[in-house]
Order: sequence, then C-alpha cells, then structure tokens
Amino acid sequence: MCGIIGYTGPLMARDVILQGLHQLEYRGYDSAGMALLTEDGGMYLRKKVGQVSALEAVCEPDIPAHCGIGHTRWATHGGVTDANAHPHAVGKVVLLYNGIIENYHTISRQFGFEGLATSETDTEVAAQLINYYYGQTGNPYEAIRRSIEIIEGSYAFCILFTDIPGTIYAIRNVSPLVAASSEQGSFIASDVTALISYTKEYFVVPEQHILTITQDQIRMETLDGTVVKPEMLEVTWDVEAAQKGGYPHFMLKEIYEQPEVFQKTIMPRLVEGLPNFEVDGVPDPLFQRCHSIQVIACGTAMYAGMVGRAIMEKQLRIPVSVSIASEFRYDTPLLDPGTLVIVVSQSGETIDTLAALRLAKECGCPVLSIVNVKGSTIARESDYVLYTHAGPEIAVASTKAYMVQLAVFYLITARMMLVRGAAEEAQVKDFIASLAKAPEWIQDALGQGDAIRKQAEKMAFSRDAFFIGRGMDYAFSLEGALKLKEISYIHAEAYAAGELKHGTIALIEPGVPVIALATQDHIFNKTISNIREVKARGAYVILITKKGVPVSSEVCDVHLEIPVEDDRFTVFPCAVLLQLLAYYTAYAKGYDMDKPRNLAKSVTVE
Ligand code: AGP
Repeated sequence: MCGIIGYTGPLMARDVILQGLHQLEYRGYDSAGMALLTEDGGMYLRKKVGQVSALEAVCEPDIPAHCGIGHTRWATHGGVTDANAHPHAVGKVVLLYNGIIENYHTISRQFGFEGLATSETDTEVAAQLINYYYGQTGNPYEAIRRSIEIIEGSYAFCILFTDIPGTIYAIRNVSPLVAASSEQGSFIASDVTALISYTKEYFVVPEQHILTITQDQIRMETLDGTVVKPEMLEVTWDVEAAQKGGYPHFMLKEIYEQPEVFQKTIMPRLVEGLPNFEVDGVPDPLFQRCHSIQVIACGTAMYAGMVGRAIMEKQLRIPVSVSIASEFRYDTPLLDPGTLVIVVSQSGETIDTLAALRLAKECGCPVLSIVNVKGSTIARESDYVLYTHAGPEIAVASTKAYMVQLAVFYLITARMMLVRGAAEEAQVKDFIASLAKAPEWIQDALGQGDAIRKQAEKMAFSRDAFFIGRGMDYAFSLEGALKLKEISYIHAEAYAAGELKHGTIALIEPGVPVIALATQDHIFNKTISNIREVKARGAYVILITKKGVPVSSEVCDVHLEIPVEDDRFTVFPCAVLLQLLAYYTAYAKGYDMDKPRNLAKSVTVE
C-alpha cells in the first residue's frame, strides 16, 4: 500500500526522502512524489508515475531544503497518472496520505471544491478542505481538527503549510504511521523500514493525535489539545536485517531465514518442555473458557489459519472455523463471547482483517491476534497478542511470516491441550518436542533447493498448475497454490484430491503440472489413487511424501521426500518445498519475486 516518509532536520531533505521511498518500495506502488519547503520560503514539488527512480530523475540534485514529505502511491481513487500522484498542493497546504476518504464526493459538493479539482483523487479534496479551514482560522491545528471532524474513512495524513517552515503535521485514523526524533532530525513514515537507517527508537502514532514535527522534537497532542508523551519502542531490526543479505531477492533470503525465525518465535514460549505464554500475558482462562474458535485473516495468513484449524480440531476436538476477513466483516456472524477469535496478520494493518476484528469485538468475543509487526493497529486493538518474531518481511509474497504463524498455532494448540485436559502432560511434551524439531526439517527442505529448481524450470511456462492433497495436505496446498500464482502468474489451484473427479479433472491435459501432497498415513492410499487418475490423463506429477514411503514409478514423475515421521508436523518442510517451487518458477520466468505485479505487501484499503 502507499508509502509515506517525512523528514525535517539538518540533512538535505531530498536525499533523505528518496532513500526512504526506496526502502518503502516493497509496499507496492505505481507512482511517487515529494514536496520540499525550500530555504527561500518556496515549495518544491515533483511527482511521477513509475518507480522511485523515475522520480529521482526529475528531482534536481541540490535542492536547498531540510524539510519535506514523500509518497509512493498504490492507486485507489483515480487512475495511475502524474496528476493523481501525491503530494497534492492546494493554497498553502501540501498533503499526502495513505487510506480512503469515503465521503470525499460529499465534501467536494458541500464545500464547492468540484470545479477546482486538478486530479481525480480523494487526497486533493482533503487538501482543499484543510486549506479552506486554514484560510478561515490561520491555525494549522484548527484546520486539521475541523477537517477530520468531517472526513470519514481511514487515513494517515502528512501535511506541510507553506508559511510554516521546517514543520510537518501528521494525523492518522486506521492507516499506519510511525515517528522518530534523533540527532539527525525528525521523521514520520508508514513503517520502520524507512527509519532504521537513522534511528532505533520510534513510536507508533496513536489514532486521532496531531503531531507537530520539527527538527528538534515531535509534539503530540489529542484533538482537545492535551499534550501526550509517546510510548517509545525499540527497532530490533537493523539495516542489515532489512537488506537482502547477499541473496538475489528478499523472498529467497526470507525463505532461508525460516529455521532461525522459527526458533526465535517458539523458544521464548517453552518452559521445561511445555508451552508457556506468560511472557506474552495471555492467560489460560482464555483457552479454557471457549467452546469454539473462529480464525479470521486474509491471503497467506488465512491459509496459515486453515492449517491451524486442522491441527486444533485434531488435538482439541472443538469446532474451529476459518473466515476470509473481507467476507466476515460484512457478514452477520454467529459468534458469542464463548467463541475465541484468533486474528492473523503479518503487517497488523490489513484493513479487512482489522474491520473483522472490530466486528468480532462487537459480538463480545475475546480476540487474540497473531501479528508480526509490533505496535501495529491489529495488535493494539486485540485483547491479547502473540507476536511472531519473523523480523521484517519485505518480499510481498509471505514466506517466513507464514511459517511462524503456523508455529504459533501449534503452540496455542499445545497450550490448549494442556489447560483443557485434552492430553496428558507427557503427550504435550512429546508434541512440543516434535515441534522443536521443525527447524531441522525446514533446513532439510532448504537443502532440496536444486531438485526443486529443476522442477520449477520444467513447469515455468505452464499455463495452469494444480496442488492436490487430502486432510492437512489439502490445507498446505492452498498456500502452495497462492505462492505460485502470486509471483509466477501461473494460474494455480489447490484442490481436495478426492474432489477432482467432480469436475476439475476435466482440466488435466498432458503435461499439466500437478503437485501432490501425500504425507498423511491414514489417507495415503486414497491420495495415491487420485494421483493415478491425473497421471493417467498425462499430468506431470511432483509427489511429496514422508521419507521412506515406497511409491511406484508410474505414480509420479518426481518424488520428493521430507524427513518427518509424525503426520501432524509435515507442514513445515512441505511449506518450504512449495515456497522454493514458486520462487524458482518465477525466477525461471525472469519476474521480480519481491514486487510482483498488482500486489501490495499490506492491503490497507478495501
Ligand atoms: C501473501 O503472500 C500475500 N502477499 C497476501 O495474501 C497476504 O498474506 C495478505 O494480504 C494478508 O496480509 P497480512 O498478513 O499482513 O494481514
């Protein structure tokens, strides 16, 4: 989604902003722009469709300015044009933002802005409104305060007033903003990735608080003018962590980080071989009281929830449902306070997931979230949070975040087994002992990269691909299909293996790649039968099973094995094999795995 960076301080604002925009590129965008308050009292504005490098090319190198704001736009209202790119300047107001103003047409009509528009955006209407009130009151706070009383929607505004040098104003509602002040000046940004070159100390901007950012300090006040001290956080991610570390793409680096981040996520929650959430402040009654569980998320996070559902229902014998957040939020859910809602989100800012969380709370449900970004909106609005410790996931296609989301679901399952009496302590210890082996199984799968790459090159130019499995294998295949399609643009579908003959098998033609997962003993033979059906129709079958399982050569073209004995834990190495398959397929096609077309890292607008 849109990226925001603002700076005021001793450094050259142009350079700081461009560097920040580069670091925010991973959020996905289609145009970029910046506005600077120059030393002679002027305002310098450039904005361009395309990459940040296209903006850089039109920004003179030595612009005398130490205060400015920059933006990468992911188009929502209005097409991808230079005019629609941010910032927008109206009168003495220069503004950029991330979000959606739902009533901008009404505002435009009500205040007579329609004939003044130079773009098709809701952003410009916000600039017109703030400029209108600034003209009436001459006071930036009043102008902002009065405007947001009218504006409906989600927003993270950064605002310059051309007659107030060296100062940036900011305010947010739902859309994310972080801020920091250091000896190198003061910063405001969409996320810490744009700040970590300058400072490790930052804070999350609370909603509906007006920030006045000058080079020496950041003043934060509520809408009624009460000055509030920010809650400082420490960035544990150094610049190195957010760089590629020698890998060709962030995505491959993040795939290879999985053993490490898996350990980081589970180890703090294991005490004497048992799961323990004391460090997270998640109380046992939360797990003891619920009669059912509702998981809510989007995309990969939702597919992690599908695996979570499979293992929780298997071990706890209580109903677990998984809902797509964008569906759930407009539904009339059958929830009551006895339903534990688990919200999953890497970014903690996905607007549909946040809205679903709020609806769940209106139903009186306790909400536990599994989130990677500390201090994110979803984390702050949950009753309890279990943070994953994946570090910055820069690639748009989620890999390590998925892996650690799974790890947390397995920890939750183990804790619930214990506190609900669903298993003896010894059984829970065995479960945890197996879970603790996952990093080595993940490492083994990473060691199969060359074999996977060969298969990827074979299937790279297929039009379609199918992922099939039964039970937990079906849950894994959902994420495998998403990974492949979102970075290689091959039309990939996950299918319950037993369902193929009810229509989809009509699509199986000679050479169509079918990735078959058969890691569950109790349904292994049934899955092999389904594989024979697609093989008989000419499919190219890549079969994944547990190590040592005999498979006759006419069943598959390639047989990959994972070193896991216990069916409950096969997801961890399987996920890695499917991630690598997607990565090397896109690599063979010469695509950009970190910034796939049309996608954004965090979908903060509907
Ligand atoms: C994952 O590869 C996708 N980029 C996307 O499906 C993502 O998982 C989804 O948008 C949810 O994001 P979140 O985890 O930050 O909420």
